[in-house]
Amino acid sequence: EPGDVPPGPNPIKDVTTYFNYLKSIGVEYVEPSASARKGTPADPRKAVKPPGPGSDFVEPSKSLTLEALSEEVANCTKCPLHETRANAVFGSGSRNAGIMFVGEAPGAEEDKQGLPFVGRSGKLLTKMINAIDFKREDVYIANVLKSRPPNNRDPGPDEIEACEPYLKLQIEIIKPLVICALGAHAAHTLLKTNTPIGKLRGKFHEYNSVPLLATYHPAFLLRNSAYKKESWKDLQLLRDEHKKIVSGK
Ligand code: URA
Repeated sequence: EPGDVPPGPNPIKDVTTYFNYLKSIGVEYVEPSASARKGTPADPRKAVKPPGPGSDFVEPSKSLTLEALSEEVANCTKCPLHETRANAVFGSGSRNAGIMFVGEAPGAEEDKQGLPFVGRSGKLLTKMINAIDFKREDVYIANVLKSRPPNNRDPGPDEIEACEPYLKLQIEIIKPLVICALGAHAAHTLLKTNTPIGKLRGKFHEYNSVPLLATYHPAFLLRNSAYKKESWKDLQLLRDEHKKIVSGK
């Protein structure tokens, strides 16, 4: 009966015993009172940006969404490049990355392995990432196009248009603190401009309120090593901006 005090120990004094008692009479679930619910803190995994590099923090809903998107990309037939690719190249790295690199499109090696930046350009990109004290696994790496254009030709405007939504969603899921666009195709796609990369580089722009730095593509740097000096300046800007955001200063 309402108001009845259960037999045995005083429920107010001994909560565990009280719950055990409830269980013993077949009560399986106790609804928290409205006031208790109001005071319940939100799931901290949803509210807090996980700590920086090296963190193994994974937000479960994020992993599901990235996986679902990756699956969609693997089955994508939105442009003719699906006919010639060996593998779609979705992206790789940390779901909780503070820095996201965006390249142009997979090359031969990437197409073969299904992973971004694993060929010659990729080796240089890895060195660039290491130079600012990150590991490849700490950052996230993706491309504008998820399928290789035959003979590594430039991406076509229709191909970019078809593939861009995937990149947008990746950025939305990863929520990087800073983005680095590698080369003109990535910079032009994300910033909606045709300004040459030599003019865009060296300063921050914004992509949906996220600071975006454009710099030279590693493949260009392999052919034009004199530009590595400027590229190093850009990387330091990227590192400093990321550090500033993480530290909140
Ligand atoms: N160049 C790119 O832009 N992306 C890759 O994944 C490899 C080479």
